[in-house]
Amino acid sequence: MSRPFLDFYTKLDVIPTHQDISDLQNHFNRRHGLYIQLGVPPLFIRNCSVLEFGPGTGQNAIVTASSGPSEYVLVDGNSKSIETTTETLRPFFDKVPIQIIKDDILTYTSDKKFDLVLCEGLIPVQLDPSGFLKHVASFANKGGVVVITCMDSVSVLSEALRRYLCYYECSPATEVKERIAKLTVFLKPHFEKLPGMSRRHEDWVIDNIIHPWAGSLLSVSEAIQTLAGEFVVLGSNPHFMSDWRWYKNIVGEEVASVSRAENSYWRNLHSFLDFRAVFGERDVEVNKKFFAYADKIYQKIMEQDKQNVLYPMAELAADLTELKALLNEPSSRTSLALEEVIQALTTYQGTWPDFPEFGALWGRGQQYISFMKL
Ligand SMILES: C[S@@+](CC[C@H](N)C(=O)[O-])C[C@H]1O[C@@H](n2cnc3c(N)ncnc32)[C@H](O)[C@@H]1O
Repeated sequence: MSRPFLDFYTKLDVIPTHQDISDLQNHFNRRHGLYIQLGVPPLFIRNCSVLEFGPGTGQNAIVTASSGPSEYVLVDGNSKSIETTTETLRPFFDKVPIQIIKDDILTYTSDKKFDLVLCEGLIPVQLDPSGFLKHVASFANKGGVVVITCMDSVSVLSEALRRYLCYYECSPATEVKERIAKLTVFLKPHFEKLPGMSRRHEDWVIDNIIHPWAGSLLSVSEAIQTLAGEFVVLGSNPHFMSDWRWYKNIVGEEVASVSRAENSYWRNLHSFLDFRAVFGERDVEVNKKFFAYADKIYQKIMEQDKQNVLYPMAELAADLTELKALLNEPSSRTSLALEEVIQALTTYQGTWPDFPEFGALWGRGQQYISFMKL
């Protein structure tokens, strides 16, 4: 089976992760804000050894290199990524010991362990995301930090629904460059409603609509379970975790306990559906049911995309109606957006209407989570 990202990017000869960083100060502020939420302030990075998997274009690596690590190793399997990352980091070559290695992450080995291991935007949709995560995390030093991103079928539901609309807007049989161009135009009104969109529109289409997403997602809960026993949760973005224990009570086995982090995830999962919304915590069991609906919709849309197994519009409309009821926020903009899709599905006559509400519905896509090795 073809490898997600690697074989796809190589076939298209692209590396679709360019961000607009013309305002460099803004880029640094964004990245530092993220790292602070993850418990990795810039001073932590100074003089620590860093291993980054899948740097893409290396634009985020500029910020890491600027913090002055003692050593910075970057591994990517895409030649274009290696070229671009090398050019991007060239100004740092005389300041920081940097090694840029072309390799498949899954076969990469090293005798060294690192203080900080970064793996952003590439574990979900791998063929075996948990195995991938275990491999990535195995390079962390004791006391070191691993930063990864997660996605689940609630946080990417808006992307999945866009995939569905795109399937009918422009057949997957269309020549790929033509399809990218047409879908970029089709989704333009949606991109214009997303504040802070720093990626090229075409890149977003390649990565989220055209890329087959061959493997499975990896939720925060699955990531926590994968590393439980060897790692504790340090931080996240969004910062949905709460822990009201008094520090003096965190002793013995409690130090390694990750159940609170997992519980916080489940209690807040419904807010992952819409980046604008914070719905307030709710019962774990209700959100597990909510997740099951989102997952069913996600799997069926992907099945249609990958295997051409049709997901009839009436069936998707019925599933979305159930999901909306379980969200239980009838007057929210999220519900209005879902209702707009349900209406479009039930009245479809060969063209989609404008989506003034759904166009503005963007999920919390990928969540960042950091772990410390015990
Ligand atoms: C979506 S990009 C993410 C880039 C960057 N980390 C970011 O968040 O903007 C994924 C990157 O990981 C690389 N990649 C994915 N799977 C890989 C694998 N198995 N081995 C090596 N590189 C891989 C791709 O070549 C690409 O550069």
